[in-house]
Amino acid sequence: MLNTTEGGTGGSRFSGIGIGKRFGALSVLEDVDFSMGLDEAVGIVGPNGAGKTTLLATLGGAFAPSAGRVELAGRDVTALSAAERCRLGLVRTHQVPKPFLGMTTFENVHLAAAHAPAQSRNEAYDRTIDALSLCGMIGLANRRAETLGLLDRKRLELARALATGPRIILLDEIGGGLTDSEAQELVETIRELRRRQIGIVWIEHIVHVLLQIVTRLICMDAGRIIADGDPQAVMSDPEVVRAYLGGAPA
Ligand SMILES: Nc1ncnc2c1ncn2[C@@H]1O[C@H](COP(=O)(O)OP(=O)(O)OP(=O)(O)O)[C@@H](O)[C@H]1O
Ligand SMILES: [Mg+2]
Repeated sequence: MLNTTEGGTGGSRFSGIGIGKRFGALSVLEDVDFSMGLDEAVGIVGPNGAGKTTLLATLGGAFAPSAGRVELAGRDVTALSAAERCRLGLVRTHQVPKPFLGMTTFENVHLAAAHAPAQSRNEAYDRTIDALSLCGMIGLANRRAETLGLLDRKRLELARALATGPRIILLDEIGGGLTDSEAQELVETIRELRRRQIGIVWIEHIVHVLLQIVTRLICMDAGRIIADGDPQAVMSDPEVVRAYLGGAPA
């Protein structure tokens, strides 16, 4: 049954409604409306400084919006912290991976798994092994996080998110800084998330990687959404070509 809460975004959607974000005098997001089905795969592109990370951080709960609200499955979560949203199934990976240094890969993922609600110790352990194995990290389980290279840190970031048992994962440039073949490995992992019907919002500059997964693309520029829809149509939208692709067609 459709949950028609105020605003009518419904019980099966994740939405940011009229989102604004200011840092002092600097306005970074202005009246952004974002909405997706819980099992949708949406990409976000846009030039540096467009506000993509700020939008993801606001949707995920790291930042409180200066205006607007965030709804998850018909519930207003605007006042909830990132940790509280995580317990409701919304989790974010960071553009710069933030593992706990001094802890092993296993300990990092297990800590995230233990954070999920109403779990026995065995469930947290199983979820840890599942996340490590899906991200190709079983062989690195005993390695301390600070000894990992960039690809493995990105994998660990994804494994930690996955271990929380999310309905939606917000991915911030998980492929950034990787070689083509490394990014391709991450795509295969993300394909498995899609098979599990986990919803994805994925910011990525490597567009040909992104387009292997997402069925909808949003382009942001200067704190606003300038295009939203079919990925190919968005990439050839004249405003996107001007703002993001520097005038050259995709
Ligand atoms: N915590 C903050 N305090 C002040 N300004 C900030 C903060 N976070 C971001 N900004 C500013 O907000 C704007 C948007 O930054 P944001 O990181 O969201 O962009 P982005 O689209 O993710 O860029 P990139 O592609 O480089 O990652 C930038 O001008 C940035 O300097
Ligand atoms: Mg960013």
